[in-house]
Amino acid sequence: MPGGRGRARSMNTAGFWILAQLVLLLVADVKSSADSELCEPRGPPGPPGPIGPPGPRGFAGMPGPRGRPGLPGLVENCPPLPQSAFSVKLSGPFPGPSQPIVFQEVLYNHQGHFNPATGVFTCSVPGVYQFGFDIELFQSAVKVGLMRNGTQLRDKQAEAGDSHEQASGSSILELEKGDRVWLESKLDKEESEKGTTHTMFYGFLLNGN
Ligand SMILES: *[C@@H]1O[C@H](CO)[C@@H](O)[C@H](O)[C@H]1NC(C)=O
Repeated sequence: MPGGRGRARSMNTAGFWILAQLVLLLVADVKSSADSELCEPRGPPGPPGPIGPPGPRGFAGMPGPRGRPGLPGLVENCPPLPQSAFSVKLSGPFPGPSQPIVFQEVLYNHQGHFNPATGVFTCSVPGVYQFGFDIELFQSAVKVGLMRNGTQLRDKQAEAGDSHEQASGSSILELEKGDRVWLESKLDKEESEKGTTHTMFYGFLLNGN
């Protein structure tokens, strides 16, 4: 039967192809297993390499937050510096000699250490003082002494004709509490009454002890 024979042949052909493919698969499998058998077995990983050098320095960080304000400072109350000063003026002749000159006008005597009634300064703040006088004269003569406790510290004399003259002087002295300072005339009353005389007398503490 020719029809049956042809079918059998085609069946054989198909079978051959299936077989060939199976063989191919088998060969491939055998080859791959043969390959893995040829490789050396892998060992455990080696120890890690040494640590590398440090990297470059990083950027500076952002500034921190502002600190809290400090505590208020201690208030120390300094005692006020001791003061002593006076300035007085006289327009007119001097009194007779050996007595303090009394001044008409008080220009400054804030602490009251100068007594305008007696013309005497009495030290209340021990320390170094400056005392001075300034006399303007016209057609007159003066001779004054700066006194402490009755002792003359310095004197000055001047005479003026038909011109204005000036006489001035000053002293720096250290005073104890209770010391008295004044200005006095060394001329007779009649002599000093001539002409016109303007006198300024002043004193002030340079530094207290
Ligand atoms: C000046 O006189 C006053 C009062 O009499 C006295 O306390 C003082 O010690 C005297 N000073 C001097 C330097 O003599």
